[in-house]
Order: sequence, then C-alpha cells, then structure tokens
Amino acid sequence: MPKTIDEMKSSQSLINPDDLKLKPIERAETIPSIWYTHPEFLKIEMDAVFKKNWQLACHQSQIPEPGDSICRTVAGNPVIIVRDQSGEIRAFYNVCRHRGGPLAVKSGTTTVLQCKYHGWTYLMDGSLRGVPQFDRVELFDKKDFGLKPIRVEMWQGLVFIILDDDTVSAEKILKDIPEQIDPIRLDEMHYHTTTVDLIDCNWKVYVDNYLEGYHIPIVHPELAGLLDYRNYITEISEYYSLQYSPFSNSSADNPYNAEDGQAFYYFIYPNIMMNILPGRLQTNIIEPVGHDKCRVIFDFFYTDPKKAANMGTIKSDLDYSAKIQQEDIEICEAVQAGLRSDIYDKGRFSVKRELGVWHFQTLLKKNLLDFQS
Ligand code: FES
Ligand SMILES: [Fe+2]
Repeated sequence: MPKTIDEMKSSQSLINPDDLKLKPIERAETIPSIWYTHPEFLKIEMDAVFKKNWQLACHQSQIPEPGDSICRTVAGNPVIIVRDQSGEIRAFYNVCRHRGGPLAVKSGTTTVLQCKYHGWTYLMDGSLRGVPQFDRVELFDKKDFGLKPIRVEMWQGLVFIILDDDTVSAEKILKDIPEQIDPIRLDEMHYHTTTVDLIDCNWKVYVDNYLEGYHIPIVHPELAGLLDYRNYITEISEYYSLQYSPFSNSSADNPYNAEDGQAFYYFIYPNIMMNILPGRLQTNIIEPVGHDKCRVIFDFFYTDPKKAANMGTIKSDLDYSAKIQQEDIEICEAVQAGLRSDIYDKGRFSVKRELGVWHFQTLLKKNLLDFQS
C-alpha cells in the first residue's frame, strides 16, 4: 500500500489503469515505456515488487565456513548473509543500529560482525556485543540494539531472502523444479566464479530480453547455429517460466557440452535466472541500480570445478557466456534508448515466441494491482 497521499498521487499519475488490465497474449500490449524510464516508477516497484517477492541471495557453497558472509542489495536495502558458528545461514540488514554504518562492505570471512564506522560489534546471531566508549549513556540496553533479521529460506542449496513476512514460502513456489531437472541436483554444485556487469538499461529490459528466444537469430547468430530454434519451448508456471531448446545435431563444437540437450533456462519472478545443464548451474541476479541502470550478477557453479579435466570446459563456458552477455548488453542499452524516445510507447507480443515476456509483464501488473488495492 502506498504510504502517503503524495505517493498515492504519484503512482496514480504514472500508472494508467488501462495498462494494468490483464489480457491474454493474443490481445495484450507490452507495458508502457514510462514504466522503464521514470525514476518514480522504480520507487513503486521497490515496494510493490522487490519487497514482496523472494530474492536470490547466494548458493550455500559461496559461504561454506562459519563466519563467511556475502553482501547484497534488496529493494534498495543493504543486506548481509552470514553462516553462523553452528553452520546456520542467517540474513540481516547490513545496517548498524548506532548510526547506520555497514557491518561489511564486501563479502568475506569474520568471527564477529564489526561496524565499519565506529566499531560496534555484533555476534553472528545479530545480538549487539561490543559498544566502545559508551559509558555514561543512559537508558541504553544492548538487547534493544541487535541487528534486524531478514527472513531466509534454503531451497536446493540456494539461499533465498525476503523482506516481507507474508509471502508464501519459496519452497512452495519452486516445488516442481527438482523433479523437472532430475537427476541434476543444485545442492551438489560448487561455487566457481562471479562476473558483474553494470548495464545502462532498466532492469526489466534485461529481464524481457532473457525471456525470449525471438532475438537469438538476429542478436546471437552464432548461438542460433547451435540451437534447434524451431523446437524452442517456453513453459509458464505460476511464478516462474522455463525455456528449453534442444541443441541441433550439427553442434559438435557446442561449448555447453550438453549433446543430450538437457538444458533448462528458468526465470523466477521478478529478477532471478537459473541456467542449468548437467554438472553446471549459472545464476543471474538482476539488481536495479537506478531507473535506467541495473547490475547483473552471474554466479557460476559446477559439480566438480577443481577437477583438471573440467578446466577447459569451464573456461569455454565462461568465455562463451561473456560473449553472449556482451551481445545482450549492447541490444539492451539500445532498447533503453528506444524506450526513452519520443515516439515509442507500447508494442505487441509474438504469441509463438514471447510467452515468457508476456508472463513476466502480467505478474508485474498483478503486483501493481495488489499494491494499489
Ligand atoms: S554506525 Fe556503527 S558503530 Fe557507529
Ligand atoms: Fe540474448
């Protein structure tokens, strides 16, 4: 719910009620360009979308030892995910209760969480322990100044977090996936590498682009040669969609090394992607940085990343992913310029090729409708 009259007014003028109508793909229009280009719209999305839906924090193998931590941003809030001494994974706002300093500015390992500003220390359960030079302060009880915890859920080795207490569990949302990808097991993967791109486009431009294979023949001609494009499939579920393309027979030099065609490209609403092949998981997190900028975090995992025999395959996987990503970055940044132009507002969907984009935009509209009601 919008909190103030001003917020209510700004959301009403930005969001035309006609644009919230839910229509089948055959008759639907794409969402209006102002949703991609207005700074105020991102503020609405932070409350309506990013606080209300599960966010991927990391994989358990990224924080394997007690004291390991990782930093993220969720709905504009700095967040820290830690593994405590008992091995349990916890998440907190990465915000000191003294004057708002950070407990960590980057991922790392520690025994206590010490604020980087004046050095208050917190135990891994979030309780405040050390408060230097605070004698003579009255009516102050350390018990009242613990770190603010965040809801965490483990699913198949992946750590999900959410700022909202009422959202249905991640396990329930994702429950059919383990069977779909069997015998691949995500909890058996081990962290290898992270790459980060800061891209000059709204976060939804990147998501839209991920959700269709329509652009592959034009934007990724080399990749198009590896895929059996005619048999490219998109399946939609309630909160996620799955794209699947068999590899073509002529793909002997296939960098994905997956001749049996078991490749799964999952999108989990609103900003998570899991690209799964036998022995390999790549997760993408799309973090909005501003209305026209997003941070795309790729984390790569393999069942056996240290085995020498796998090194070559992993290197070609990383190189190939970087090449495809560069092609996607260039088109996404150009699309953002087009959305900003004087003449573009809304388009239409290919029923055959853009089911995933329509599904994403429909979920977005539903979140906005819930927010307004
Ligand atoms: S803000 Fe953390 S110790 Fe001052
Ligand atoms: Fe692409």
